[in-house]
Amino acid sequence: KRVGVLISGSGTNLQSLIDATTDLGRGTGAEIVLVISNKPGVQGLARAQKAGIPTMVIRHTNYSSRVDFDLALHEALETAGVELVCLAGFMRVLTGEFVRRWRGRLLNIHPALLPLFKGTHAHRQALQAGVRITGCTAHFVEEDVDAGAILVQEAVPIELDDTEETLQERVKLAEHRVFPRALTLVATGKVWLDDSGKLVWAQKT
Ligand code: GRF
Repeated sequence: KRVGVLISGSGTNLQSLIDATTDLGRGTGAEIVLVISNKPGVQGLARAQKAGIPTMVIRHTNYSSRVDFDLALHEALETAGVELVCLAGFMRVLTGEFVRRWRGRLLNIHPALLPLFKGTHAHRQALQAGVRITGCTAHFVEEDVDAGAILVQEAVPIELDDTEETLQERVKLAEHRVFPRALTLVATGKVWLDDSGKLVWAQKT
């Protein structure tokens, strides 16, 4: 499957997807054909360029509405023949229109064990709640933020002296395992989203 990745920053999750899919995809069924950032000059763009992947900057500040910005994203993805989209630290909420157009073909990574700690500052929420385990979740994107059928999760322990930064660092290591696995499941057709928003597994494993 031809994959487009949307980013806004450092792109460590993008890197994990690049590493998993280079050398003829290594059985992932996925090839990253385009990386789009809404911010210029971010490290993720350099990572893509180093891997020889085409990049685009589509600045949200150049558009007067979210609908127009999302339409520009949509057109860029369509033009590149993208079939699956991964949100890898993309810090813009997508419009319902965009999400509906890409429904079942749009994946996100969230740094908490959903349905806990949705939205921004997931690590701060986890530390404030006093949970001893958090983690990360790869899921299909639905119109509600951080909702949508869960594909892969991994638990991560919280240490007594954790700060948001140290916790984020530890959770990211799990994200880098989880996102490529989720992409592979979808790109190889092992799982898909049905009309009611539930996962269908090709074969129970
Ligand atoms: C990750 O923690 C991801 O879960 C969140 O944004 C962060 C992106 O990091 N949505 P990176 O750009 O992949 O390094």
